[in-house]
Amino acid sequence: MIKKAVIPAAGYGTRFLPITKAIPKEMLPIIDRPTIEFIVNEAKESGIEDILIIVSSNKNAIVDYFDYNIELETILKSKGKEELYQKVHKIAEGVNIFFVRQKEQLGLGHAVLQAEAFVGNEPFAVLLGDDLYVGKEKPALRELMDVYEDKKRSVLGTMEVTLENTSKYGICDPINTEGNVMLLKGVVEKPNPKDAPSRHAIGGRYILSPAIFNSLKTQEKGVGGEIQLTDAILNLMKKEDVYAASLQAKRYDVGSKIDYIEAIIDFALKDETLRPDIIKLLKQKG
Ligand code: G1P
Repeated sequence: MIKKAVIPAAGYGTRFLPITKAIPKEMLPIIDRPTIEFIVNEAKESGIEDILIIVSSNKNAIVDYFDYNIELETILKSKGKEELYQKVHKIAEGVNIFFVRQKEQLGLGHAVLQAEAFVGNEPFAVLLGDDLYVGKEKPALRELMDVYEDKKRSVLGTMEVTLENTSKYGICDPINTEGNVMLLKGVVEKPNPKDAPSRHAIGGRYILSPAIFNSLKTQEKGVGGEIQLTDAILNLMKKEDVYAASLQAKRYDVGSKIDYIEAIIDFALKDETLRPDIIKLLKQKG
């Protein structure tokens, strides 16, 4: 059983500058909750018990968000605002959250390496904050955990992208496919479309064997001069089978402005207190 998850949240958030100069991108709100809370909830609803969030020096707002705010809570209680108090107090209840700082931003692979002591010698999940999923029947991570329980090997969550978009993602090279599960013979980070081995892109969800840490420790810099998780996974394949599974959940790339706006609209449409007004507003805009 997978009980531990890692959420890397140490990146600069350059696609959302200038706001990310002062606000971590993971704290950008989908209406009134930060995107990272949805990622934490996905992990929790998938059965994860312990979450390590990898932060960097200007990400204290994330640490504060998952802590109690005693002053605010006391005021809400004393004013009889019980419902608001519960809303604030119950954030991420039922899951343990830990933090570690990545002291220098050397890439996603290096960020995940910071989780070694937390993870120990068991398989674990990685959830990237830019990829926000809304599960149809189950959370996206649960889909991967179910594949893991069958194969007992690392599994990467994938989605299909257009050929020109292969250069934005880690791309899988499958050997054989049964249903939506693929055994991989390779994986390549942000290939030139003409070199892309497939259109199956890694969608920011992973179940990884702890052997990944040995690969990460010796991993040289790759694309963008960064230590890439994808390159370490390729290395891991020399020792262990690695699978990919195409995710059924709907994905929003909340690092992209248009997907971020779509997520806000979709979440508002699902909120019955907002839905009628949002529909009216969208109709007015034509
Ligand atoms: C990262 C990974 C990439 C993956 C992507 C998913 O890239 O390196 O393999 O496909 O997340 O969102 P980034 O978007 O951080 O450049």
